[in-house]
Order: sequence, then structure tokens, then C-alpha cells
Amino acid sequence: TITADPAAKGAAIDDTMYGIFFEDINFAADGGIYAELVRNRSFEFLPVDNRDYHGLTAWSPAATGGGKGTLKTVNGDARLNERNRTYLELGLANPAGGAYGVTNSGYNTGIALQEGKSYDFSVWARSDASGGTPLTISLHSEAGAALAQPVTLQVQGDTWTKYTGTFTATATTDAARLSVLGAGSGTVRLDMVSLFPRDTFKGRANGLRKDLAEKVAALNPGFVRFPGGCIVNVNSHYGYDASSNWERARSYQWKDTVGPVETRATNANFWGYNQSYGLGYFEYFQFAEDVGAMPLPVVPALLTGCGQNRATEDEALLQRHIQDTLDLIEFANGPVTSTWGKLRADMGHPEPFGLTHIGVGNEENLPTEYARNFVKFRDAIKAKHPDIVVISNSGPDDQGFVFDEHWKNNRANDVDMVDEHYYNSPAWFLQNNARYDSYDRNGPKVFLGEYASLDNKLFNGLAEAAFMTGLERNADVVKMASYAPLLANVDHVQWRPDMIWFDNDQSWGSASYEVQKLMMNNVGDRVVPTRASGKVAKPKPITGAVGLSTWATSAKYDDVKVTGTDGATLFADDFNDGNDEGWTNLAGRGAWSAADGTYTQSDVGAENTLVRGPVLNAENYDISLKATKTA
Ligand code: AHR
Repeated sequence: TITADPAAKGAAIDDTMYGIFFEDINFAADGGIYAELVRNRSFEFLPVDNRDYHGLTAWSPAATGGGKGTLKTVNGDARLNERNRTYLELGLANPAGGAYGVTNSGYNTGIALQEGKSYDFSVWARSDASGGTPLTISLHSEAGAALAQPVTLQVQGDTWTKYTGTFTATATTDAARLSVLGAGSGTVRLDMVSLFPRDTFKGRANGLRKDLAEKVAALNPGFVRFPGGCIVNVNSHYGYDASSNWERARSYQWKDTVGPVETRATNANFWGYNQSYGLGYFEYFQFAEDVGAMPLPVVPALLTGCGQNRATEDEALLQRHIQDTLDLIEFANGPVTSTWGKLRADMGHPEPFGLTHIGVGNEENLPTEYARNFVKFRDAIKAKHPDIVVISNSGPDDQGFVFDEHWKNNRANDVDMVDEHYYNSPAWFLQNNARYDSYDRNGPKVFLGEYASLDNKLFNGLAEAAFMTGLERNADVVKMASYAPLLANVDHVQWRPDMIWFDNDQSWGSASYEVQKLMMNNVGDRVVPTRASGKVAKPKPITGAVGLSTWATSAKYDDVKVTGTDGATLFADDFNDGNDEGWTNLAGRGAWSAADGTYTQSDVGAENTLVRGPVLNAENYDISLKATKTA
């Protein structure tokens, strides 16, 4: 029996209780929600980003009518912008009627086009040919069939100029190619070759892919945490300039990502690809506003976290980043007469973005060094902006000592709020519903910045939903929560599970997406205290000794004992439906024979999504286990 007591007032639940965490992982930005269709548009890909990359990644030579020429990428003084280092140089030597240039193959299968829709092309170009260079730009299939009326442009003069044109697609495809060919002779230089669907989310220029942004908007998120994740707090904290030797693999530094796109730096993304920063801080703030959510940026704390465990002992650099953070607040909230407020206005948003929360650091593994830096950031921010909530860190939840030390420091430093992260089995989520019941009501508040149960099945969504009831019951302590990661391109997956999946022209939500949508669209105002009473059903014993192993089980799953032979693999069928939903390879965990020939849950559990924590009692959750010999 569940008894609700509407008269007893529980904790108020903030509108910002549930939100999203956007990280550029799994090609979530370029090749994902950022609607740019040309891959490597500014020829900046380098082997540092990914060892298979080079300046011409996604580009190949092309010719029509016997066209001839040479092509190379150049990192030279004639560049378009100091921070946009490399451009394409075509040496044209065409016979009459010929044209020579390049073809871009887009992302995944190619470029997605929808019949009847408009696509905006642009390119920065210069030509030393006395009469200029005619460019023909075409959209076509891989085999060469036209997919739109070509665009023709005349590049005139040897200074960088932006040229534009519009296509109307004559067919629907997810595999188009874009070719840019020059006629005549002479040297033509190209940079920022770009193609955007006209139909972006909210019709924004330099905008977002509509289906993906709409799926996010349908969540009705209370906040948007961005831009990461590990892309924030790993790699060098030096800047992108000559004094830093054009440091390539840098932490996420917001000033790299604002201003006209052709002036933005690019970077090596921690997840193994190039980041164009076309989706940058302005676009993040604008997106948060467009979906009615509170923006929540995260800045690097000058440590290298995410398992890399390094602290930067450079006070001047630390102070530079603290100043960058103050400048970020000015960019978001400052008047248009301020330096950074003016840039925001120049980019099209004179009104402030209303920043109220900021995270410092991501998953930091060095509690002492982190606390030292955090306090410096926090004190500098509070001195100028006492109302801004500065969010601290707890490190990864599964590193008990680090986590505890962080919390000790956070309490000692009286921090506003602590960012917790965990990725665990659905069983763990079900078992830990009461996690926050015992948190100190007077200590720092909790921001659950990242969590997910480790698969994309229905049961994962259900386990997360059950867990969220525990978050909500503790809404006086847990102020915000976001599932992670948000997006995954099916052809470029660095992390799973993910909330929304997509390819070039389709997207779909996981069960966890549906749960998040349900919860975010139905956030209550206040917790109604409830009591549950009744007879607790006796758990069913675990059954099903199959294969080469033998079983000894007791009535409770968390008492299960497993015996078997060396090299065996344990399978677990958590729904009793005949499928192996979880497994653990015992061979990888040392000899399969423990001293007494018996494995307890803790012996077998660490790598197993199912056996990782005590599962629901078998009354609600039928379990059978079997072991088979793999070798
Ligand atoms: O969400 C994926 C990754 O998980 C994030 O980058 C990081 O913060 C965590 O380890």
C-alpha cells in the first residue's frame, strides 16, 4: 500500500531539475547536430587529431572535360586568417572546356539532401588569373548524376573574398557529393568550403540540424550543460597562437570558438577527431535559449582529468584561465558596451544570455590540486558575481577514495554544488534509489551531471526512471540531473549507451530518451511524501544451472555463489527470456577456481553490467544464470 500525504509539504522541485548534457563525443557536433554538410571544410584536419587524418581528408581530386591541374593544402602566409592556418591551393592548367578541382564526400555515406529543399553554399576564395576564375559547384551522386542545378561563381582578384550560392535539391539522398571545379589557368586558393541546409533549427544561420535539435527541444530540458565532459579538461591548457607553438591538442577554451566562423581555431578532440568549433559558445548559449533551458558551461580547472591525472603548475596560465572565465561571464551577461558583451552583440545577440551557473572542471582525479584551483576560480568569480553558482567536482564516482576526498574538500570549502558522475548497471540504479536520502541537508547541493545505466534497452530506461524518483524525492539536495551522453552518430561511436542516435538523415531516441522526455515534461512543483507498507515478498531463488558449471544459489541474488571451471564465461539472463543480457568473462579475472572453487558476487562482478551490484529481488526480476566453456 502506498500512502500519499498531500498536506505534508516535501521539497520543492526546481524547473531546472532535469536537463541535458551536450558533449562533442560520437561526432555529436561536426557530422551531428551542427548542420554543416561539408567535412573538413577548412582543410585543417591533421594527424594529431586522428592518425588517419590529413589536410585533404574527405576531399579528392576531380575534373570534367579533360580538366587538368594540381592541388595541395598550404599552411602559409597567404592564409585566410591567423587561426585558420591551412587552405587549398589549386594550380589550374585546363584546356578549353575543362575544369579541375575537388570533391567532398561529406560524413558517413555522404551529404544528405531532400528534394525541393534549399542548400546554402559559401566559399572563401582568391585567384591570381588576370580575368578571374569561373568556379562551378555541383551536387551529384558518387557516380556523377546531378542532384541540383549547379552554381557558378566568378572568383575575381587575389584577395580573400566570400562567395555564396544556393542549390535546390532535385532528389532525396543521404549520399551526395559536392564538387568545386575551376576553369582556365592560374592559382586559385579556397578555404571554408561550406554547405548548409537552409532549413536549420529555428532557421538560424550557422545553425543546427533540425531533426536532432527538435528531438532535444522535445525533451523540454531545464538546463544545457556544455561542452563536456572530457573534451573540457584534457590536453594542453595553452592557447592557439604562435607563442604556444600552435598547440593542437588543447582543452576546450571558449575564446577559440567565438567570432566569425572563418576566424575560429580548430582543435584535436579528446575523442579522436577534429573539432571545427563551428558550433561554439555563442551557438551553445543560443541553443539553450532556443529550447528554453538554462545555459550551464563548464570550463577547464587547469588539471588534466579523465584518468590522465596531471596538474598544471603554471600560476600565470591559471590566472589567464580565471580571467577567461570572468570574460566568459561578460560574454554571456555583460553590457554591449563591454568588450565581450560587444562581441555577443556583434554576433547577433545584444540581450544577455542570463548565465547563472558555471562548472569548473570535469572529472578530476587529483582532489588536493583540484580544490586548490577550484577555490581560486570560485573566489574570483564570486568577487565580481556573488550570485553565480559555481559548481565543483567529485571526480568519477567509481573511484571511492578520490570521490570521498573531493567531497571532504567540497564540504570544507563550503562549495555551492558538486558535480557527480556515474555509469553503472541497471541493477545498480535500482539498488541505489536511496543514495541521496542520507546526504547532508546542510552541505553542498548535488548536480548529477552525468549518469546512465549501461545499455540502451527498455530495462535501462526503466531502471533510470526508477532511480530518478529517488533524485526527485531528494530535490532539496539534488538540484539538477542530466543523462549522458546525449548524441551518437552510428558510424562514429566512442561511447555507449547514448540517448539519441542518428545517421546522415535519420535520428531516433533510445528507451532512455523516452524516459528523459517523460520526466522532463512532467517535473512536479513539490515532492508529496509517501509511505509504502505491506508484506515484503520472499525473493524467488535463482535457478538454472546449465552448461559446464554447477550452481549454488541462495534465495537472494546478492548471495549468489557460482562455481565452474577455468576459462568459462558466465552468462546471465536477467529477464528469463532465453537471451544473455549480461555476462562476465571470468577467465580475464584470474583463475576460475577460487580457493574454495566458489565465486561470490564480488569476485565476478566488477565488469558485469548485470552482476555488478545486488539486483532487485527475484520477485520482480527473474534471473537465471548459466556458464559455458569458451576456450
Ligand atoms: O559522457 C562521456 C564521458 O564520461 C565524459 O566525457 C566524461 O566526463 C565521462 O567520463
